[in-house]
Amino acid sequence: MNYTLTHKKLPVLELEIDEETSAITQIGEVFHAEHIPVGIETIEGRPVRSALNAWWMGRAIPASRSGLREALQLMNVSSTNLLLLKCFGLSLSDQYWINSHAKPLNWDNVNFFDNEFSEDVGNALFGHTTQGAELSLVSPDNTSDGWLKKKWIVDGAQRLLVKGGSNPYYQEPLNEVLASSILRRLGVPHAHYDLAWDKDRPLSVCADFITTSTELISAWHIYSTAKKPNNRSAYQHYLACCERLGIPNVQEGLDHMLTLDYLIVNSDRHFSNFGVVRNAESLEWLGPAPIFDSGTAMWHNSVAYRIHPNEDMPSKPFNTKHSVQIRHVSCFDWLDFSALQGIEEEYATLLDQSVFIDNDRRDVLCNALTRRLEMLEKLATRHR
Ligand SMILES: Nc1ncnc2c1ncn2[C@@H]1O[C@H](COP(=O)(O)OP(=O)(O)OP(=O)(O)O)[C@@H](O)[C@H]1O
Ligand SMILES: [Mg+2]
Repeated sequence: MNYTLTHKKLPVLELEIDEETSAITQIGEVFHAEHIPVGIETIEGRPVRSALNAWWMGRAIPASRSGLREALQLMNVSSTNLLLLKCFGLSLSDQYWINSHAKPLNWDNVNFFDNEFSEDVGNALFGHTTQGAELSLVSPDNTSDGWLKKKWIVDGAQRLLVKGGSNPYYQEPLNEVLASSILRRLGVPHAHYDLAWDKDRPLSVCADFITTSTELISAWHIYSTAKKPNNRSAYQHYLACCERLGIPNVQEGLDHMLTLDYLIVNSDRHFSNFGVVRNAESLEWLGPAPIFDSGTAMWHNSVAYRIHPNEDMPSKPFNTKHSVQIRHVSCFDWLDFSALQGIEEEYATLLDQSVFIDNDRRDVLCNALTRRLEMLEKLATRHR
């Protein structure tokens, strides 16, 4: 065995890793079965190798990441799996990593929460690096998920995630700020996003909501802790998994998230865009993660004339239509519409800052938001 899968400072199990592909070729002794990553199938306390590999490889930057090929060329690295090894699999969203037997390291000296890191990988991912420069490849960007361009940066003791938008309107960062404002006004726990700029392109910036003692577990990994019976809906199965694990406040968290998603017509709330937080040492479940990644909303890539707020738009993750998915919300008592007064004007001011949004699009989007608010209010009143 050449590595130990480590959870913060705790050895979990021994691994043989093929350094050329980063694949796990063998699993050795298991020291702490209860710390095996959540959602990985185990047989008699030992993880199934294919499942552990899927989890491990799933930590690499996804192949769908915008601009990935160019970034790998700039860094002169042949695959994202090799980047995974360069940072020992360390991330800023959880506490797992692999410790090499040949050159053992100490978590205190390598974790990205306490130790600074170079922006070289992040800059390459944004296409900002000059070819041939000597780059440091030890970066939490090597384990960041999602398809939008993004990078982690150090801001004193804080770690910030800077994320771009997509062609042609670069609207996602503006939507993240809109979602933050809606959730702040409603008193719902969320990751707060600010606006920043890369020349004339908007970016969103949010602080890491994970600390050295916590970690984010995606809804997908929670969902995978049991097999879904055929007679159970995806929503019921997720709730049942959370209940079995003893995770608190899950239904309330889903009520908040599904309501936001209905309001801003989020089309991409897949099972990795929400989750739960636990203490990485005691393994105590703390509750739903603050709402994050809500930018793929508000018809972000539709031309203005195709924006129809009444139209039943595609939704995720529990149902394919928002009109059906919103029915899972168990209670709207927390939803104070008066707190949302003036949100359209705020969105207009936000949209006005971007050269990619003309006045016509701005007005159509703000009217659509007003209409969605009316639709939501009608629904909530009927429910009460
Ligand atoms: N503030 C944060 N603190 C900790 N981890 C975060 C934070 N924001 C995002 N993450 C992690 O980074 C991943 C990628 O971020 P995010 O989902 O915002 O990117 P994306 O490119 O918009 O994703 P998608 O492909 O779903 O559109 C998330 O799935 C989550 O695991
Ligand atoms: Mg995401």
